[in-house]
Order: sequence, then structure tokens, then C-alpha cells
Amino acid sequence: MHLSQVVLPVLYFCAAVVDSSSWNGSYPRKTCTIASKYRSSNGTLNDSPAVASAFAECSQDAIIVFSEGLDYNILTPISATNLSNVEIHLQGNLHLPRKITAVQAAVNASNALTYSTALYWFKFAGASIDFIGTSNLTNGWIYSYGQAWWDANPVNGTGIAARPHLMSFNTTHGSIQHFKSKKPIAWGVQLIGNAITVSDTVVDAFSTTGSFPFNTDAFDVTGTNIKILDSLIFNGDDAIAVQSGAHDILFQGGTIGYQSHGMSIGSLGQNQGSFANVSNIKFNNVTVINAVYAARFKSWIGGQGLAKNVTWSNIRTHNVTFPIFVTQTYYNQGSNQTQLENGATIGRPNNSTVQMSDFTWENFTGSINTFRPGDGSCVTDPCWYDAGLPNLTHTEAMIMECNTNSSCQNFATKNIHVFSQLEKAATVICLNATAELNPDLGFDCRNGTYIPFLS
Ligand SMILES: *[C@@H]1O[C@H](CO)[C@@H](O)[C@H](O)[C@H]1NC(C)=O
Ligand SMILES: *[C@@H]1O[C@H](CO)[C@@H](O)[C@H](O)[C@H]1NC(C)=O
Ligand SMILES: *[C@@H]1O[C@H](CO)[C@@H](O)[C@H](O)[C@H]1NC(C)=O
Ligand SMILES: *[C@@H]1O[C@H](CO)[C@@H](O)[C@H](O)[C@H]1NC(C)=O
Ligand SMILES: *[C@@H]1O[C@H](CO)[C@@H](O)[C@H](O)[C@H]1NC(C)=O
Ligand SMILES: *[C@@H]1O[C@H](CO)[C@@H](O)[C@H](O)[C@H]1NC(C)=O
Ligand SMILES: *[C@@H]1O[C@H](CO)[C@@H](O)[C@H](O)[C@H]1NC(C)=O
Ligand SMILES: *[C@@H]1O[C@H](CO)[C@@H](O)[C@H](O)[C@H]1NC(C)=O
Ligand SMILES: *[C@@H]1O[C@H](CO)[C@@H](O)[C@H](O)[C@H]1NC(C)=O
Ligand SMILES: *[C@@H]1O[C@H](CO)[C@@H](O)[C@H](O)[C@H]1NC(C)=O
Ligand SMILES: *[C@@H]1O[C@H](CO)[C@@H](O)[C@H](O)[C@H]1NC(C)=O
Ligand SMILES: *[C@@H]1O[C@H](CO)[C@@H](O)[C@H](O)[C@H]1NC(C)=O
Repeated sequence: MHLSQVVLPVLYFCAAVVDSSSWNGSYPRKTCTIASKYRSSNGTLNDSPAVASAFAECSQDAIIVFSEGLDYNILTPISATNLSNVEIHLQGNLHLPRKITAVQAAVNASNALTYSTALYWFKFAGASIDFIGTSNLTNGWIYSYGQAWWDANPVNGTGIAARPHLMSFNTTHGSIQHFKSKKPIAWGVQLIGNAITVSDTVVDAFSTTGSFPFNTDAFDVTGTNIKILDSLIFNGDDAIAVQSGAHDILFQGGTIGYQSHGMSIGSLGQNQGSFANVSNIKFNNVTVINAVYAARFKSWIGGQGLAKNVTWSNIRTHNVTFPIFVTQTYYNQGSNQTQLENGATIGRPNNSTVQMSDFTWENFTGSINTFRPGDGSCVTDPCWYDAGLPNLTHTEAMIMECNTNSSCQNFATKNIHVFSQLEKAATVICLNATAELNPDLGFDCRNGTYIPFLS
């Protein structure tokens, strides 16, 4: 009999058990342990139907187990959006299709071809969801086989069509522990909801062929009361992007790098008609290696809204191109699709600005990438990250581009000790962060050598 003809009659096993480790309620939790057809089919059959059945059977007060050491083919997307009080234990490894066309077919089938609707390969929603991986480094991975996608991107392309996001996680009072993602196709985890703690993440979007891993954001955050702790993220876009609607966010501990775009607020204000809003955001105690940015704020030209009370503190940079970067006049050079309003590709008026208030950068140490600045994401000339900055020397500790003389208020910098690789004094580019509105800026807002005020 051909291996692919092996049919296992039992797809998953359910049992009522009491989980002694983390459940202290008075009634037993149901457990669904998912069987895998991976080994018996030599990696050919799809385990998604069994996974979907388990999520249907164990959608409430339950534990779902991907068994230790087993592999599971997740060849079609998983959507479990009616969960309540469910723990997902990933002790085996999950595999997306290796073939680009197989993933694209699923994305196209969900009508998610446009930028406005995204397909999430895993979609979890409901109250109290805990996604629990393992510290065992051989298990708990989601393998997305992104390398083929990055390699297939044409010269000066910004990523091929019909790319899915990896996961949408929408819960209240939940957690993600030991999430491990290997070569994601593009965007990672979208965090939605309230009161979520994410810890001990590993995202490895390191390209081994030299192609660029476009849009491999690790976390995109639109929820509230979210902590992301002790992450290890090597990627080619934001390690964290705090987006409109996010409030009370802490990103703390760990190391980010490779061609990362760092710890970002934004982009905000892309839709000129809606008011962007983020507040109470802190990035603390993070090491940043070889990245394009460490601390970045990005809002669109002509956007509107307010970003308030944001701090980056205790940041160590190694060979980072732009340690501190603020722009309120962002636009997308590389793609016609994302800069528009009503289908127009030009004529986006500079008629408003996303206001920034109460921003602090404190305790930065390390080096600026002077010798090999930037990354492999340049597809235009000038490169998107050099646009509007003709006088870069790559000795800049800080670049602060405020759109108007009132759009940046209460900026404060303190103990900024980052040095260029020329071993000369660092410089700054600063526009419109006026002394009147920014009494604790810590230096004169002008272009040139960075001379911090003595405090
Ligand atoms: C199992 O799959 C591998 C890789 O696709 C292939 O090289 C091998 O021939 C297959 N083995 C069998 C028994 O089909
Ligand atoms: C990690 O998982 C592998 C494969 O399942 C197992 O052989 C190994 O014993 C585990 N290691 C630890 C430290 O538990
Ligand atoms: C998140 O889940 C809640 C309820 O669980 C739902 O009302 C809301 O629409 C979801 N948000 C998104 C962006 O999917
Ligand atoms: C900073 O984070 C690292 C983990 O990346 C941790 O070991 C260290 O204790 C933290 N330092 C402080 C002062 O919290
Ligand atoms: C700026 O102009 C755009 C396009 O006409 C419009 O949608 C937007 O509402 C304007 N913003 C403000 C603050 O008037
Ligand atoms: C600013 O945000 C921090 C969290 O990063 C919070 O503890 C603090 O209360 C906020 N300050 C104000 C004035 O809201
Ligand atoms: C600095 O970072 C750039 C861009 O990531 C990289 O090409 C270069 O090798 C790095 N230099 C060192 C000394 O690590
Ligand atoms: C924008 O669209 C036009 C018309 O379709 C096309 O010629 C051009 O190459 C596109 N530019 C970019 C940067 O994608
Ligand atoms: C900055 O570093 C100083 C000296 O180590 C420390 O006292 C202060 O608390 C740090 N600031 C922040 C915001 O962590
Ligand atoms: C790619 O973009 C760079 C920078 O704009 C340009 O020099 C190069 O000619 C482009 N290559 C192709 C094949 O379009
Ligand atoms: C770049 O430097 C030149 C010469 O000093 C100056 O005239 C020009 O205004 C500068 N451009 C910007 C954007 O700072
Ligand atoms: C500062 O903002 C004003 C508008 O408030 C603008 O006219 C001016 O060009 C800006 N200055 C610089 C140096 O960007």
C-alpha cells in the first residue's frame, strides 16, 4: 500500500483530565491531543482537518495538545475564533506548505489578495487563550519555508503576491509563551485584544541566500495592556510595530537584529481620513544588532492623530544604522498600493500631521553603522530610508524630522552615548523640535555635531 493511502481512523483523542500544572478551577478540563499523519504519510498528508476538529471539540475550558516530537502539516489555514479558556500546547512542530503556489491558492481563495484584507494562516480569537510552546529547541517551531518566497521576489520587488500573515491572536487575559517561528513568509503575529503577555519568543527570519526577507514584522500590535518580554528576533522588518489603537504596551528584554527595522511606533496616519491614536508605550532593556533602526517613529505625510507618552530606555546598539529616528512625513516609495487615498498615487496633501507628545529616549549606548549602512530592502534610488536625507554621513545618533514647529512636543533625550564607527563625535539631524515646546530635548535642534547639554 502506498504510504499516502494510510488512513488513520482516529484523528484526535479527547479525554477529560485535570491539568495539574496550570489549572486551578474546580472542574476538569477536556484535553484534545491531536494525532499526526506526517510520519505515516512521509510528510505528504494534511493535518489541518484533524487540527480543526480538535479546535471544534475543545473550544471551551480545554487543552489542545500537539504532541512532543511530532510533526504536523498545516497545509490549509486554521481558524478558531470561538475559543474560551483554552490552552494550546505546541510541543511538536508545525509545517506550512513548502510550495509557494499552495499557500497562494489558499490566500487567493480567501479573497485576500489586496492589502486591505489579510489572510492569517492561524487565526485564534476568544477569551483567555494561552499559546504555550516549549523551551526545547527542537520542538515548538512553526516552519513557514519563507526562504523560497524571499528568493522568488524579483529584483527591486517588495515581496511577491498573496503572502499570508502567520497568526492573528485576539484574546483577553491570555498569553503566548515560547512562540518560535522559522523563516516566516512575511508578517508574524498580530496582537489584538487586552491583557496579553508574550514571553520568550524566537523569530528567525534570517535569509541564507542573500535575498531579503521583506515584511517579516515579528509583532504588530493593535491591542491594549500587552507585554512582550525577552524576545529573540532576527528579521527584515519591525521587531515590533505598535499601531493605531495600541495603548499600554511594554516591549522589554531580549535581542533583536539582523536586518531588523527595530522597535517602531507606526506607521501611523496612512489613512488620511482617520485619526491615529497610541499612548503609554515603553521599550526597555533591549540589545539591537546590525539593524537599520533601533527606536523608530513613523507617521505618514498628511496623516492625523496623536501618539503620546512613549519611551525607549536602556537600549544597546551594535552597528545600527539609525539608532533613533523620527519621521512625520513618511510615504512609500516602493509600492503604489499603500500610499493612496481613493486610488490616487500622487497628490497626497501635507495638510496635517500625527502629533507626537511626551517622547523620551534615555540610556542608549553602542555603535552607529557608518561603514555598511542600511539593509537589502532598497528598491529605489534614493533608497526609502535615505529619502529626504541627502546629507547623511551615517554618524547620526538621532534623526528627528518634525513636520511642523508644533507637531513635536515634550521630547526628552538623556544619556545618549552612541558613537560612529569613525570614532568621531556623533551627529544629529533635527528639524522643528522647537526649544519652546521641547524644553528637555537635551540638545539644540539643528543639523550637525551632537552636543548634549550638561544636565
Ligand atoms: C519520503 O519523502 C522524501 C522527501 O520528499 C523522499 O525523498 C522519499 O523518497 C520519500 N520516501 C518514500 C518512502 O516515499
Ligand atoms: C527535546 O525534544 C526531543 C525530541 O522530542 C527529545 O528527544 C529531547 O529529549 C528533548 N529535550 C529535552 C531537554 O527535553
Ligand atoms: C477580536 O475578538 C472580539 C471578540 O472576541 C471581536 O469582537 C473582535 O471583532 C475581534 N477583533 C478583530 C480585529 O478581529
Ligand atoms: C535586561 O534584559 C535581560 C534579558 O535580555 C536580562 O537578563 C536582564 O536582567 C535585564 N536587565 C534589567 C536591568 O532588567
Ligand atoms: C487632508 O486632505 C485629504 C485629501 O483631500 C483629506 O482626506 C483629509 O481629510 C485632509 N485632512 C485634514 C486634517 O483636513
Ligand atoms: C506613561 O506610560 C507608562 C507606561 O509606559 C505609564 O506607567 C505611565 O503612567 C504613563 N504616564 C501617564 C502620564 O499616563
Ligand atoms: C553591520 O551591519 C551591516 C548591515 O546589516 C552588515 O552588512 C555589516 O556586516 C555589519 N558589520 C559588522 C561589523 O557586523
Ligand atoms: C506604479 O504603478 C505604475 C503604473 O502601474 C507602474 O508603472 C510603476 O512601475 C509602479 N511603481 C512602483 C514603484 O511600483
Ligand atoms: C538610565 O540609567 C541610569 C543609570 O544607570 C538609571 O539610574 C536610570 O534609571 C535609567 N533610566 C531608565 C528610564 O531606566
Ligand atoms: C533596482 O533599483 C536600483 C536602485 O534604484 C537601480 O539602480 C537598479 O537599476 C534597479 N534594477 C532593476 C533590474 O530594475
Ligand atoms: C544638505 O546640505 C546642503 C549644503 O550644506 C544644504 O544646502 C541643504 O539644505 C541640506 N539639505 C537638507 C535636507 O538638510
Ligand atoms: C518647520 O515647520 C514649519 C511649519 O510649521 C515649516 O514651514 C518649516 O519648513 C519647517 N522647518 C523645517 C526646517 O523643516
